Amino acid sequence: MTIKDTVPGESELRERARRVLPAGGFGNFPADVVIARGEGGRVWDESGRAYVDFLLGSGPMLVGHCHPEVMAAVAGQLSRGTTFFANNAEGIRLAEVICDAMACADKLRFVSTGSEADMYAMRLARAHTGRDKILKFEGGYHGMSESSLMSLAPKRLVNFPQAVPDSAGIPAAMRETMLIAPFNDPDFAHQIISEYADELAGVIVEPFQRLIPPEPGFLECLREETARHGIPLIFDEVVTGFRLAYGGAQEHYGVTPDLCTLGKVIGGGLPLAAIAGSDEIMAHFDKDRVGEAGFTYQVGTLSGNPVAAAAGLATLEILRRPGAYDRIEATGRVIMAALRDSFAEAGIPIQVVGVPSLFDVVFTDRRVRNYRDVLAGDAALLQRFNQLLRARGILKTDSKFYISLAHSEADVAQTVGAIREAARIMGAEG
Ligand SMILES: Cc1ncc(COP(=O)(O)O)c(C=O)c1O
Repeated sequence: MTIKDTVPGESELRERARRVLPAGGFGNFPADVVIARGEGGRVWDESGRAYVDFLLGSGPMLVGHCHPEVMAAVAGQLSRGTTFFANNAEGIRLAEVICDAMACADKLRFVSTGSEADMYAMRLARAHTGRDKILKFEGGYHGMSESSLMSLAPKRLVNFPQAVPDSAGIPAAMRETMLIAPFNDPDFAHQIISEYADELAGVIVEPFQRLIPPEPGFLECLREETARHGIPLIFDEVVTGFRLAYGGAQEHYGVTPDLCTLGKVIGGGLPLAAIAGSDEIMAHFDKDRVGEAGFTYQVGTLSGNPVAAAAGLATLEILRRPGAYDRIEATGRVIMAALRDSFAEAGIPIQVVGVPSLFDVVFTDRRVRNYRDVLAGDAALLQRFNQLLRARGILKTDSKFYISLAHSEADVAQTVGAIREAARIMGAEG
């Protein structure tokens, strides 16, 4: 078989994937769907089925698939070269645009993935303070590094601040470098930060954790406590950057961290991420300023890739236009209301958790404030709901509706209809 093999049917592709990919997939979305193409707010699978797409590449496609302006920017750069391992105008311009947008950003360093950005942000905090421990929040996702994969999705609930590794292969000693706290509990955060102040290198938080908005006062408390003890506060804005608002969660909630990480939207659908923050902390990437002892070593073959930077710049340009966020949020509000109304009619208790640009339903009658509240939701009902939506041409992750600027009235109408039908069926199933 040659690489140029003609496109086979979806089932044959699935079979071929099983032969060469562990678990038959790339490790991301369930491997039973093979996407052939996307346009606007829709994708099509290899069997030709169309879906309204709320997966959106796990978030990056905020302006939709194949936006003509993004495609033109990418095509323009492609003809000038695809990677240089050297400074280039597109990357420098994108760094300027991001530093203008993000309140915490004096300077930034590009990497290729959000995982890397979070890994380096924590390393920078450790370099800056000369301490080892990082505080993170249970259920918070910060990519795949050994520090990050602690108490992301623990099945066994242990006492705070113990960390539970989420993966095999993580050295046991790593657990001792991480402290875990519940999200949205300012009293606990205050207590743990004070208690460990002399050992804490940093506090990392998704300011909007997965789906869960911060309660008023929580981020402010983290800011106040970390500032009091000179501990860098890191906002993981890989999801929220340019989604919750143009200036990210730090603009939306009015709290400025010392460092933030960005990914997804800033690469416009191509691999690009960044660590951004105060000049003082970012200086650890500059050996001339901090000397050998304070230097945080960082290189990456594709860092500042000009094609990804061109896609990111075009994407941010579109988002900067008046009305862009109003439109995204209006779309989200209609779908959130449909979820509430449909399940109320069906007599099934749910919470719609999130903000209009990113939310989902949790099958519980309890208010959702943290990871343990999500875990207490009925996962089987959620799975059934997602399955019924998929059968009606709605594609989403297990736990998120990502909304895009490109979702049309027809996309929304189809989605609302599918939600109503799914809720009715689930109500009848009892
Ligand atoms: C909040 C958050 N941080 C970090 C990451 C990791 O980003 P990447 O998948 O680009 O490594 C993700 C990915 O979904 C994320 O949601």
